[in-house]
Amino acid sequence: MARIRRALVTGGAGFIGSHLVRRLLNDGWQVYVVDNLSTGHLDNVPAGAEFQKLDLSSPSSTRYLPVGVDVVFHLAAQSSGEVSFARPDADLQANSRATLLLLDWCRTRGITRFLFASSMAVYGDTRQLPVREDMCPAPKSFYGIHKLASEHYLRVFQKLGLCTTALRLFNVYGPGQNLANLKQGMVSIYLSYVVRSEPVLVRGSAARFRDFVFVDDVVEAFIACLDRPSTCGGIYNVGSGTKTTVGELLTLILQACGRVPDGYPVIFAGGTPGDQHGIYADCTAICRDTGWRARTDLRTGLRRMAVWALGRPDHAGLFKGEK
Ligand SMILES: NC(=O)c1ccc[n+]([C@@H]2O[C@H](COP(=O)([O-])OP(=O)(O)OC[C@H]3O[C@@H](n4cnc5c(N)ncnc54)[C@H](O)[C@@H]3O)[C@@H](O)[C@H]2O)c1
Repeated sequence: MARIRRALVTGGAGFIGSHLVRRLLNDGWQVYVVDNLSTGHLDNVPAGAEFQKLDLSSPSSTRYLPVGVDVVFHLAAQSSGEVSFARPDADLQANSRATLLLLDWCRTRGITRFLFASSMAVYGDTRQLPVREDMCPAPKSFYGIHKLASEHYLRVFQKLGLCTTALRLFNVYGPGQNLANLKQGMVSIYLSYVVRSEPVLVRGSAARFRDFVFVDDVVEAFIACLDRPSTCGGIYNVGSGTKTTVGELLTLILQACGRVPDGYPVIFAGGTPGDQHGIYADCTAICRDTGWRARTDLRTGLRRMAVWALGRPDHAGLFKGEK
């Protein structure tokens, strides 16, 4: 009988991490979740996973990590570009330092597989679109810099014997995203206003554009890379490959929530620091190496997210951590 595989998912109490944990448990994995609950929530951690509250930016944290792990999915992070401007050093700790400590722990424990949630924030603004992985990154936020530094750590540890893969996630959205966090996630931020029937506050112009990718597709991207040696040392864009402006997104969110877009109040304010004007992904590389491509179109994904957000009495539990 095949041995049960064991995964450590950092950030498994967060939005994407909790979806990944659920997928791994369904596939019969034993899953350990480590999270400091800074933006994540304990009730996000799926039943069946073992949870430990740990701050991975602290060197002592590795002492408490589980033994006998086969694979590490590293998703724990300070995940907001905007917040990284308020606390650049904290971002350095939570992103770069935590990644470095975890990679070094893997090396000393003989764990050979490491998958990392990087970000499209590493690119900054680029005129060459759709953006490809071989284009020169020029991050505009401390968050992007620290994600890029983490990718470089992966590259060096790859040479030391680990099999590492970095996925540059574009704008991920879907059920379970924290609607109370107005500093991360374009879809979840706008949706949170609509769910409460409030005017939508947009910081930055309606002409900005992004690449929105549904959370289930992102989970499948991790799974697609997991057992493919060809992805060792790889860095891959994970997006839909489709360009959507902020204006188009607002219309689609309102439609998904059954609202009439014309006339719905939208307030435009100044942009946030480090915001990228426009970006979308060329996903040829991950498709070539794994066959993965995003399967959920934006209209369908937003409908699923709206059903999740609107379908609860009093929106119970939606605005987690809201004061
Ligand atoms: N959501 C997106 O659109 C997007 C886009 C690009 C990259 N990413 C990356 O994907 C990953 C998951 O993002 P998410 O949207 O689920 O964000 P999230 O904030 O919901 O999840 C991050 C989790 O990490 C935990 N965490 C933060 N600092 C920690 C620390 N020092 N030690 C232990 N745990 C810590 C948080 O409590 C949270 O549960 C992150 O690495 C993020 O940077 C997300």
